[in-house]
Amino acid sequence: MSTTTISTTAPQRKKVTTLTFRQKKERGEPITMLTAYDYPTAVAMDKAGVDSILVGDSLAMVVLGYENTLSVTMNEMLHHARAVSRGAKSALLVGDMPFMSYQVSAEDALRNAGRFLQQAGMDAVKLEGGRDRADAVRKIVSAGIPVMGHLGLTPQSVHQLGGFRVQGKTASAAKILLEDAHILEEAGAFSIVLESVPARLAEYISKQISIPTIGIGAGVGCDGQVLVTHDLLGLFERFTPKFVKQYANFHAEMNKAFTQYIDDVETKRFPAVEHTVEMTDDEWGEFVGEK
Ligand code: KIV
Repeated sequence: MSTTTISTTAPQRKKVTTLTFRQKKERGEPITMLTAYDYPTAVAMDKAGVDSILVGDSLAMVVLGYENTLSVTMNEMLHHARAVSRGAKSALLVGDMPFMSYQVSAEDALRNAGRFLQQAGMDAVKLEGGRDRADAVRKIVSAGIPVMGHLGLTPQSVHQLGGFRVQGKTASAAKILLEDAHILEEAGAFSIVLESVPARLAEYISKQISIPTIGIGAGVGCDGQVLVTHDLLGLFERFTPKFVKQYANFHAEMNKAFTQYIDDVETKRFPAVEHTVEMTDDEWGEFVGEK
């Protein structure tokens, strides 16, 4: 009699690489990317089949409660990146280089980029800025580390930009953005995030460069899309940018669950019998008798 073994685990997806990004652009297939900062989210996302996970420095705001992204450190980023890499096996993992980890010198940038791969299991890094960061991008890429650029609204420059506002709205600003995209491509970046950029400019840039663009608040003409997961899930209650599509309201769900728990404990509905372990009557009798 022959026996058949039925596997209970889903087959592992093929690992997504920077080459996959390039091929998807060539085929006109949208690239999907989301942010994650912890193990369970990374597991769920990887299982859902997302192409890429960004351990974004948005960590600072949506998880750590800071006002903006400037306060988060390399060590905090690495700590969360490690948790994500333990959970996601197929998605391309991108570690976001925090403020001051790459601006001082190209050597510094390379050293810190290397830590994301060596100490946190990331496959690539992301950094903000165009022409001013070309040397850093070149240096990191020359060490074999894939770099994703980030143009438009670059949150680490929030003070210079005068707030979280749309970029590239004037003809001259659009020209600079396009030039920066070409500069990053020439420096060796494998992809570029375009954040809060007018849709037709983002589409135009996407067609002008050979590497994929990943849009956030930049319209449907980009080669892929990324969202901050806490915005998508309705987990971050402070504000939700206009460009976000909210797929759930987890903040409200959490609030409901916590309120019910408090009520259950206060009214002694929890723990119920099914949540309780008990000694047998014999053991209990022996215990009481021996007292
Ligand atoms: O940190 C982040 O989450 C990001 C995305 C907004 C692209 O940089």
